[in-house]
Amino acid sequence: MADGGMAPEPHRIRPIDPRHHGDDPPVTEPLPFERPAPAAPAETAPDAGGLGPTGRPMPVLPEPAPVRSHGGARVVALCNQKGGVGKTTTTINLGAALAEYGRRVLLVDFDPQGSLSVGLGLNPHETELTVYNLLMERDVTLADVVVPSGVEGMDLLPSNIDLSAAEVQLVHEVAREQTLQRVLAPAVAEYDVILIDCQPSLGLLTVNALTASDGVIVPLECEYFALRGVALLKTTIDKVCERLNPRLQIDGVLGTMYDGRTLHSREVMERLVQAWGDTVFHTVIRRTVKFSDSTVAGEPITTYASSSAGADSYRQLAREVLARWPHDA
Ligand SMILES: Nc1ncnc2c1ncn2[C@@H]1O[C@H](COP(=O)(O)OP(=O)(O)OP(=O)(O)O)[C@@H](O)[C@H]1O
Ligand SMILES: [Mg+2]
Repeated sequence: MADGGMAPEPHRIRPIDPRHHGDDPPVTEPLPFERPAPAAPAETAPDAGGLGPTGRPMPVLPEPAPVRSHGGARVVALCNQKGGVGKTTTTINLGAALAEYGRRVLLVDFDPQGSLSVGLGLNPHETELTVYNLLMERDVTLADVVVPSGVEGMDLLPSNIDLSAAEVQLVHEVAREQTLQRVLAPAVAEYDVILIDCQPSLGLLTVNALTASDGVIVPLECEYFALRGVALLKTTIDKVCERLNPRLQIDGVLGTMYDGRTLHSREVMERLVQAWGDTVFHTVIRRTVKFSDSTVAGEPITTYASSSAGADSYRQLAREVLARWPHDA
């Protein structure tokens, strides 16, 4: 067909009117990007002008000082109700990078998909005791369930499909939102950092994770659709903070699967910084197939491809979170 003289639309996505969910504030759709016409060339140098990939000057992130004693863990939930945005990948690799910096790290697989456990080489079907047993059975202790992760200084509370039953069973429990917090209490005294890998939903399990946490890290794929739903996530975090856990803070929003060669990734990043300001981490995680490869190998990228750019990004993120956290964990 001839072109008909019509200029191609940069996006077909139309803004949708703000909607109301009961008493909640309106959840708005992100507006489409305003593109100069004709569209700017898609391939330009990514980190031009001494600025970092988020368009802000990159701060110096110092090597973290070694810790002399362990305990007093900061508990951090990796949370985004959107699937496939890099929650599990970030939990494994940020945890491994923090362990490289001498921190004692506990990873909590709080997703019935068990991806975190699989990503660390465990077979979830052969795992006898999981976080489900710890939540639901009073005689099961933390020490019964924790397993080594294969990375020095990093342990794992595994999970499997059993955990999906907890979502239903917890509804009948007293203090149902505080169950994870209660069972993790002994771990806080032992570890420096506890990272909770949430499932892609805002249900009771995620509310438990947020109630148990001091901070939230929100991984966000550098893709237009990823901007949707962030307002709803923020509303949930605010509600948990107000009603259940006043110490909860947003530690940062992390751009993942970033491709600096595309205008699209850079525009999403620009939009993120406009909306979230300095909450957005200066570190971004670029898209690379090495992450999928390391998952198949059942180990973090920091050991699977130790000198790769992906491994370095997570080491940089570890330095950035340690610099951000109030007490150097
Ligand atoms: N920076 C990256 N570059 C390329 N692939 C990535 C990157 N980060 C994650 N992936 C891949 O994307 C997929 C989804 O990542 P991941 O499982 O970490 O997301 P998730 O948010 O935990 O997903 P879910 O919501 O299903 O739990 C995986 O196959 C992972 O290997
Ligand atoms: Mg996951």
